[in-house]
Amino acid sequence: MKAVTWHGKRDVRVEEVPDPTIHEPTDAIIRVTSTNICGSDLHLYEVLGAFMEPGDILGHEAMGIVQEVGSAVSAIKPGDRVVIPFQMSCGACFTCGEGLYSQCETTQVREYGSGAALFGYSKLYGEVAGGQAEYLRVPQAQFTHVVVPDGPPDERYVYLSDVLPTAWQAVAYAGVPKGGTVVVLGLGPIGDMAARIAAYHGARVIGVDLVPDRLERVRARGNEVVDLRGHEDDLGALIRDMTDGRGADSVIDAVGMEAHGSPVPKMAQTLTGLLPKALARPLMRNAGVDRLSALYTAVDVVRRGGTISLSGVYGGAADPLPMLQMFDKQIQLRMGQANVKRWVPDIMPLLDDEDVLGVESFATHRVPLTEAPHAYATFQKKEDGAVKFVMTP
Ligand SMILES: NC(=O)c1ccc[n+]([C@@H]2O[C@H](COP(=O)([O-])OP(=O)(O)OC[C@H]3O[C@@H](n4cnc5c(N)ncnc54)[C@H](O)[C@@H]3O)[C@@H](O)[C@H]2O)c1
Ligand SMILES: [Zn+2]
Ligand SMILES: [Zn+2]
Repeated sequence: MKAVTWHGKRDVRVEEVPDPTIHEPTDAIIRVTSTNICGSDLHLYEVLGAFMEPGDILGHEAMGIVQEVGSAVSAIKPGDRVVIPFQMSCGACFTCGEGLYSQCETTQVREYGSGAALFGYSKLYGEVAGGQAEYLRVPQAQFTHVVVPDGPPDERYVYLSDVLPTAWQAVAYAGVPKGGTVVVLGLGPIGDMAARIAAYHGARVIGVDLVPDRLERVRARGNEVVDLRGHEDDLGALIRDMTDGRGADSVIDAVGMEAHGSPVPKMAQTLTGLLPKALARPLMRNAGVDRLSALYTAVDVVRRGGTISLSGVYGGAADPLPMLQMFDKQIQLRMGQANVKRWVPDIMPLLDDEDVLGVESFATHRVPLTEAPHAYATFQKKEDGAVKFVMTP
């Protein structure tokens, strides 16, 4: 089959690889019909290479048709239309019982001290072959699937794999009070969708980014936006001006470890990208390698007693946090990989013909899988109005 494989910093290729097969009774094989590129894939493309091997298959936002199931999988059968969550979870352990599917105790990657295994996301998350391919092997398939109806186009459902539950959790964790204000930092797919969900729930949304067409997309849906390029030094003051002098009730950080700004950690990130793996891995795991400017901004613009919800991925072990300000402002902080299936029952009713979240027109680009190298480059550089790429195998 054809698959998108990782070969090094900013080097992804489309290659012929062996078709996946059933290894365990709990496996299923899916014929992929749509598969997205995510901002999280850009971290592998740029700074997390120390944990990748050349030839690793990328991708964790796939949907398709069940082809084959193992003997222990009875919840789905060949021919079913399914979306595959980005994490593998068993549905039966203690953490799954708590709805913490991204912490599943059956698939946790203990060797690296990580939570649940993720598709196509490096040794840190189990080195499981990803979904940017014609076929995908799904471990723990008895639970790791969302069955969706036949009929509507893939775009109606494909974001259930990641964008929708991640944005939903970001909003839920932000705890915006009734009639309150939420600042959304970063208006990539996650921030854009979080803005839609927060607005749907009645919040006042102020979106912040530095890419003009991303700001425009969020503004066009009736939200306020701030272009960071004009306010790198006074964003906190500006947001306080917009919120009775107090700051926002809640802030969602949808930027993560590669934030614009913060020159010193950028050096550490570049270093880990250049060092031989044996040196880069311990540096990455023991040092503060994140560009924290979005998180610092969040601490600045949130009001006293407000909540920060981090959905952007961070990866450093010794990142300096502004504890004085966080403690003094009595900030609440919630974060983590989205627990995908925890939110699906809440989201599904919104994916009807009315399409209140605009999922069917959410993607800016739909391209053949064979164009993945160009798509990755365009998405990373945020060129050509690129916000979301959906690929067809
Ligand atoms: N928690 C989860 O389960 C989960 C799931 C998916 C993605 N993510 C993470 O969420 C983050 C966003 O994902 P995405 O797909 O939207 O990625 P993206 O890279 O397309 O979006 C990030 C946006 O942040 C903007 N930005 C950069 N620096 C900024 C700053 N200092 N202030 C404000 N905006 C800034 C960029 O211009 C860009 O538009 C990534 O870190 C990704 O890894 C987390
Ligand atoms: Zn993703
Ligand atoms: Zn589990």
